[in-house]
Amino acid sequence: AASSVYEAEDATVFHGTVDTDHLGFTGTGFVNTANEAGAYVEFTVDAPAAGDATLALRYSNGTAAGRQADVGVNGTVVSAPAFAPTTDWDTWAVSRIPVTLRAGANAIRVAATTAGGLPDLDSLTV
Ligand code: GCU
Repeated sequence: AASSVYEAEDATVFHGTVDTDHLGFTGTGFVNTANEAGAYVEFTVDAPAAGDATLALRYSNGTAAGRQADVGVNGTVVSAPAFAPTTDWDTWAVSRIPVTLRAGANAIRVAATTAGGLPDLDSLTV
């Protein structure tokens, strides 16, 4: 099926800002969550049919350590990826997470689980 791109700056942000002070983002900016556990970005992803899908999260992490998050689908945490360092905040990488979606709207929440907060998030492609 064709993929759809959801820009993080269009998603719901809990404790964070939309920033433009690094290079290489798509759309009109990226989301910089607060450096705290519990900060999150929630996307609403529309699936034409129920079934397996891959979440491709484009992110940047200019620190030397991975940033840990919970990925929730419709209220259930299904994955706990660590977003590995990307050299600097102008360099973006893609983290791929397999999920199962239902037909129609799906709430995809990426929530920080450590005090560093999330990596900078640019977009989600499904
Ligand atoms: C820097 C960087 C931000 C990033 C932040 C962080 O301040 O400029 O884009 O979000 O570090 O540690 O999360």
